[in-house]
Amino acid sequence: METLTGMERTAQCGELRITDVGKEVQLAGWVSRRRDHGGLIFVDMRDRSGIVQIVFDGSTEGLDFAKAETLRNEFVIGVRGSVRARSEDTINPKMATGEIEILVAELRILNKAKTPPFYIQDGVDADENVRLRYRYLDLRRPEMQRNIMLRHRVTKIMRDYLDANGFLEIETPMLCRSTPEGARDFLVPSRLNPGQFYALPQSPQIFKQLLMVSGFEKYFQIVRCFRDEDLRADRQPEFTQLDIETSFLNQDQILTLMEGLIKQIFEATLDVEVKTPFERMSWEEAMRRFGSDKPDMRFGMELQDISELVKGSEFKVFNSVLENNGQIKVIRVEGYADIPRRELDGLVEYVKTYGAKGLAWIQYSAEGVKSPFKKFYSEETFEAVKKATGCETGDLLLVVGDKPSVVAQALGELRLEMARRRGLIDPNKLCFLWVVDFPMFEYVEEDKRYKAMHHPFTSPREEDIDLLLTAPDKVKANAYDIVLNGVEVGGGSLRIYRRDVQEKVFEAIGLTAEEAHAKFGFLMDAFEYGTPPHGGIAFGLDRLVMLMAKRKSIRDVIAFPKTQSAIDPMSHAPGEVDEKQLRELYIKTAVKKK
Ligand code: AMO
Ligand code: AMP
Repeated sequence: METLTGMERTAQCGELRITDVGKEVQLAGWVSRRRDHGGLIFVDMRDRSGIVQIVFDGSTEGLDFAKAETLRNEFVIGVRGSVRARSEDTINPKMATGEIEILVAELRILNKAKTPPFYIQDGVDADENVRLRYRYLDLRRPEMQRNIMLRHRVTKIMRDYLDANGFLEIETPMLCRSTPEGARDFLVPSRLNPGQFYALPQSPQIFKQLLMVSGFEKYFQIVRCFRDEDLRADRQPEFTQLDIETSFLNQDQILTLMEGLIKQIFEATLDVEVKTPFERMSWEEAMRRFGSDKPDMRFGMELQDISELVKGSEFKVFNSVLENNGQIKVIRVEGYADIPRRELDGLVEYVKTYGAKGLAWIQYSAEGVKSPFKKFYSEETFEAVKKATGCETGDLLLVVGDKPSVVAQALGELRLEMARRRGLIDPNKLCFLWVVDFPMFEYVEEDKRYKAMHHPFTSPREEDIDLLLTAPDKVKANAYDIVLNGVEVGGGSLRIYRRDVQEKVFEAIGLTAEEAHAKFGFLMDAFEYGTPPHGGIAFGLDRLVMLMAKRKSIRDVIAFPKTQSAIDPMSHAPGEVDEKQLRELYIKTAVKKK
């Protein structure tokens, strides 16, 4: 195999332009595609910066043309040649380098390559498992390179912005006690302390608060977090947060500072304008209007309540819902009164997967009203509903009746689904939203107890402190989430900084004083040594970059992600370990070896 010695790279493939014509250049990179036209071979040559066409002409003096004929995709090559303009009819306007090509004078083959399992180009529809198994090849594709480069730019801007605003980057431990974000922990056995386990951090929450007790005032960290949850397109077992904590700032000051950061990130990397301040909406309003605490605001189709209009009829379904503190709500699908019956049947199944017992509809079609409950109501009622919901002839109402949480979830999801089907979502729109005034607690039916909606270090509103133990469901928290296009990209809160309040919150979520002390005693002890008022936020870096890169999965912006079943098909993690390793850790597994 040849070396580059004497032919070191002098230019990057993707940078060359018409203004470079006449220049002698030395390039190094990969064969992306080759077309053999007999005495002429065209190769798309690729490096990190992009692709340029290089030409081997059999009549070029001194060129080893036979060697050029052996080139195959993904060979690594070095070439020396001159930049020349393409003839008018061969210009490729789709390529940044499409006006020029390189006439090669010398070729070196630096390494050969086997035929890859999929084409190294954008838009491959290779199975994701294969892509992950050969991730090093998948990452060679230009779009993946762009995603990873974007991610780098984003973290660079984060560091610069926060540094300029007086923040310090401080690392916190990866081997910890269990933390309180509420997911399952990943555990690490301690060899030196037999039978004991570290937990990998679900977030640096407690440590960043302790750094405020220590007087650092402004902290940030771009940090890996670990949560053993069921995975989805926007969830990984290890993911990255931009984690932030500040002392002495109020909620408004924190949100404003974060808006500045987001604006900077988007405007410096994408060709967009981001208007601040972002809209702020209470949790209650978000649930009422959109059935979601992370509403996608790029389109309307809001939930509307028609309970008052349809109560007191002969229709048993709605009556029993309303008698049990339920509600009847609708979404309006414009111009879709003539929805096929088959699609309606499909939608019934769709809402059932979100807990609704059924779905009804009103079709205001040109031929008149069609509805499964038509016989129970007068024409006037249908007119009144039409007017109240802003319907016109030709519109469709989809109706769900149930308890408020079920209506919210079913109609909220249906709203998103119908918007996708009807093409109502503008992919180029950016709709930022702060959701604020979250409830402090949510009731967990299975465990028959309350749990903290954010985490138990979130402070309740001052005026609600007395309700913590008497009416926990009425307590609002000083918590906020930032939502972009229907995705929760960050969340945070002002924190509790008094021991007595913290103890009450633990009690409200059913921790005994002993349990609270055993788990979080060190934090509550710290609160007694002069703790400043403090608060912060954490952004999901993967989700943010996913949205910026317009991808549907965070796996596309993580160099080496795991599959849905938390496996790395390339390195085969997780894997079995030696008996000896287990013995050293005092661990016996109950699972039989395969
Ligand atoms: P929270 O649990 O809301 O807050 O996490 C903050 C943000 O992290 C992202 N995120 C995830 N991204 C990918 N995969 C996951 N499994 C995953 N889980 C969460 C989300 C989320 O908004 N300590 C608090 C923050 C604070 O109060 O300051 C915390 O971790 O985008
Ligand atoms: P059923 O009595 O279950 O056959 O329901 C009669 C009709 O009421 C069905 O065809 C549905 O259109 C509607 N329906 C049933 N349950 C609900 C519900 N939870 N919300 C809205 N409509 C419902």
